[in-house]
Amino acid sequence: MRTLVIGSGGREHALALALSRSPEVTEVHVAPGNPGVESFAIRHEVDPVDGIAVAALAIAIAADLVVIGPEAPLVDGVADRVRLTGIPCFGPSADAAQLEGSKAFAKDIMAAAGVPTADARVCQGEAESAAALDEFGPPYVVKDDSLAAGKGVVVTYSREEALAHAVACDRVVIEQFLDGPEVSLFAVTDGTTVVPLQPAQDFKRAADYDHGPNTGGMGAYTPLAWTPDGLVEHVQKTVLQPTVDEMARRGTPFVGLLYAGLALTSNGVKVVEFNARFGDPETQPLLALLDSSLYELLHAAATGTLADADAPRWKDAAAVAVVIASENYPDKPTVGDEIEGVADAEALDGVDVIHAGTDRNEAGRLVTSGGRVLAVTATGRTLSDARLAAYRGVGLIKIRGAHHRSDIALLAATGHVATPSI
Ligand code: GLY
Repeated sequence: MRTLVIGSGGREHALALALSRSPEVTEVHVAPGNPGVESFAIRHEVDPVDGIAVAALAIAIAADLVVIGPEAPLVDGVADRVRLTGIPCFGPSADAAQLEGSKAFAKDIMAAAGVPTADARVCQGEAESAAALDEFGPPYVVKDDSLAAGKGVVVTYSREEALAHAVACDRVVIEQFLDGPEVSLFAVTDGTTVVPLQPAQDFKRAADYDHGPNTGGMGAYTPLAWTPDGLVEHVQKTVLQPTVDEMARRGTPFVGLLYAGLALTSNGVKVVEFNARFGDPETQPLLALLDSSLYELLHAAATGTLADADAPRWKDAAAVAVVIASENYPDKPTVGDEIEGVADAEALDGVDVIHAGTDRNEAGRLVTSGGRVLAVTATGRTLSDARLAAYRGVGLIKIRGAHHRSDIALLAATGHVATPSI
């Protein structure tokens, strides 16, 4: 079987790698991909948001499955274009991707479906925003209503900073702050049947112990031994299935990956955000532990046969991904710095180095090309083993000015995350 993955980040590298390890898959194509996929996949110079070009490529390579990684092509309707060709496509339509594309739309769906989430106001302009900030009080949560590539959310105690962000955006959602630890729970769905994956946790702030600015994600791990029993079943019943049912009821079935960002608050589990695609970097450790065929799972979702597919199986192990970011990320990351030591890190037992912001310079050497450069992803028998291997890998990679967090999965590995009730 031939698969085509659309996108160029770490998530797409991890998806392509897991597809290449699926027994049914004979060829993996990625457009445009990154240098990390070159050893097992064929790259194509196609713009991920050009739906006609993506559909033409899918036909040209006789793809059996197209998997669209990032949110921008989904919101732009690239999955709709691919489906017109008759080739199975994993990824929601433009209408369904509004679950991520518009925070206000997501709030509307949650209200209609009775899904627990933070109380919120949709605001435009200074007066409306100031009133909502004063209604909820600090810490202030201000979310750009449109896609903002991980930069749209500001959580701050500074009313001035919160108001400045609200005014700088066209339309914002201002909401109540949700306390409690956060969990990312992904579900594969064909629009009717919902199959949750194993929970993961990511680390959004740039610096250790959740200091510094918000980023796209500086690391992740799975499984989460500290979560309460029955969490996945509870979220399936109260969040995932009602949301998928409400989308179908509106005539815009959601086919693809529903990402529920959850807060396990003192008042129960609530949705912080929905995304319409796999999370990055949670996908890296999650797929490192997948012990069944990713192709089979995604193909079943894309063809409406998920109810008949085998449930995903997970290795009885742990996985940790540590992101190495370039100098000045997330503000203005520098690019073009040489990257050394990737092969040494990959030679370690259980370690995959997943590329995100990498490219080749004219001499063919690997260089940085974006903020999040690599995710060193390791599996181990325990979370501590996986952490040790991941950080050993990080230590072998040299990039001028690069930085990473040193506390990814630390509290969980040392038993310092308290189990909340649900
Ligand atoms: N890890 C956060 C995201 O993928 O949006």
